Amino acid sequence: MIIRKFKSEDLKDVEEIEREAFKNPYPTSFILGLWILNPNCFYVAEINNKVVGYILGTFDWGNGHIVSLAVKKEFRNLGIGKRLLKTLENYFFSVGCDYIVLEVKVSNRIARLFYYKMGYRDRRLIPNYYEDGEDAILMIKKRPIAKKPLIVSLW
Ligand SMILES: CC(C)(COP(=O)(O)OP(=O)(O)OC[C@H]1O[C@@H](n2cnc3c(N)ncnc32)[C@H](O)[C@@H]1OP(=O)(O)O)[C@@H](O)C(=O)NCCC(=O)NCCS
Repeated sequence: MIIRKFKSEDLKDVEEIEREAFKNPYPTSFILGLWILNPNCFYVAEINNKVVGYILGTFDWGNGHIVSLAVKKEFRNLGIGKRLLKTLENYFFSVGCDYIVLEVKVSNRIARLFYYKMGYRDRRLIPNYYEDGEDAILMIKKRPIAKKPLIVSLW
């Protein structure tokens, strides 16, 4: 499996995965608009030349924002979501973001558990966030504190 940046030829596969994963997928114009504004924040996972997952993010007031993440059903629980998330996190932290935020449906137990395992914590409820009226939980992850360099005395 490889993780690589999104290319416009991947759009059809990404939209198919999105439709399978979410009841109200984002419009194409929204996905492409975010990609154009944030070309380093859109990655896909590929197995045998087939896209099996994607992650799309953006910058939000200097913080990283995970906008959408999904893995094709038959490829879930194999560590692909984790690798996609780590790739975008590494990028966000490497360019100086102190926080990464995301919204997740209160009822999406699997995603909430997944993000919890990846170090995200519930910050607050956002009432009526989704089109169907469901509330979101805002989850947040802080940039890990860099380890202090080990100073070895030569004397
Ligand atoms: C959430 C999602 C992206 C996770 O992707 P994935 O590739 O299946 O997750 P991974 O295999 O990388 O799992 C990473 C960790 O999350 C945990 N996890 C994943 N699915 C889980 C489940 N069904 N139940 C409990 N824990 C789960 C894994 O146990 C793993 O922990 P570990 O490292 O300790 O083993 C995937 O379930 C998905 O596409 N869901 C539909 C779309 C969605 O809800 N997206 C998020 C909304 S913003």
